[in-house]
Amino acid sequence: MSAMLSIRDLRKTYDGGFQALKGVTLEIREGEIIALLGPNGAGKTTLISTVCGITTPTSGKVTVGGHDILTDFRAARALIGLVPQEVSLEPFEKVIKTVRFSRGLFGHRRDEALIEKILRRLSLWDKRNAQIKELSGGMKRRVLIAKALAHEPRVLFLDEPTAGVDVELRKDMWGIVADLKADGVTIILTTHYIEEAEAIADRIGVINGGELLLVEDKDRLMTRLGKKRIEVHLSEPLDAIPPALAQPGLSLEGEGDVLMFEYDTQAERTGITKLLNDIAGAGLVLRDLSTRQSSLEEIFVDLVTEGRS
Ligand SMILES: Nc1ncnc2c1ncn2[C@@H]1O[C@H](COP(=O)(O)OP(=O)(O)OP(=O)(O)O)[C@@H](O)[C@H]1O
Ligand SMILES: [Mg+2]
Repeated sequence: MSAMLSIRDLRKTYDGGFQALKGVTLEIREGEIIALLGPNGAGKTTLISTVCGITTPTSGKVTVGGHDILTDFRAARALIGLVPQEVSLEPFEKVIKTVRFSRGLFGHRRDEALIEKILRRLSLWDKRNAQIKELSGGMKRRVLIAKALAHEPRVLFLDEPTAGVDVELRKDMWGIVADLKADGVTIILTTHYIEEAEAIADRIGVINGGELLLVEDKDRLMTRLGKKRIEVHLSEPLDAIPPALAQPGLSLEGEGDVLMFEYDTQAERTGITKLLNDIAGAGLVLRDLSTRQSSLEEIFVDLVTEGRS
């Protein structure tokens, strides 16, 4: 199946010589939702801006719906909706005009029913005749989302759509994303909220220092998240794991006085009972026992720190 969005070896060096993208390759299927996680300055906005034609790539190839973003810009751009990270709106314009104008930009016919539906969906209908400057920060963010939806994009980019918004808008956003997915819209979002990625993405990408460190199915990542560790503290240190105890996931740590067992919480048999039986059978005496679960946050932090070293 051909990709809705294809990014091949995309590089971006800014004028000052700073290399913000160091060869990013990513394929996204139609109707897929991918969340990009990464620390400040990782290159998320640069990636989105380049794909959307706001920034020119230094090298690499990007196609949207099969259209090259450089040689076939208008066709590619017509498929795209962008909710930018920075609020950039005309302060004296009325809400409804701003959204209507956005629809016209890439050649769509006027459709007042659609505009009304979008404004209602984002709880902006009552504010439709307000000027942008009269809106709160969260409402302005809603207007940005309304503008992006007004031209019925097939590929929607959301650059930190829920940064600094209240719980209600965040939940609204997740609902809107789910509706769009049901309509087959492809969605790329960046976020600093890991629980947001967990809630709505099919795949999760981690970007750091201009490189895509990982792109993985969310469920698979969640299985990794399901990994739990049990630490068995022994009263006497060991030189090695007794052969009777040896099994995958078991290692000897500390001063030889800690047996560390990593297991999958989602597995049918975790192996804990067997381990404890074997420990008793080998005549080892326990001093203490503790468990620890690795979180997606830890996986993420590990990856990003490795990338820095
Ligand atoms: N116009 C520019 N000129 C020079 N350097 C830039 C420009 N825009 C961004 N950069 C640099 O490129 C790097 C990536 O920036 P980018 O905005 O893509 O990061 P980000 O992942 O979106 O971060 P954040 O989470 O803070 O939004 C940063 O080091 C930034 O300083
Ligand atoms: Mg950014």
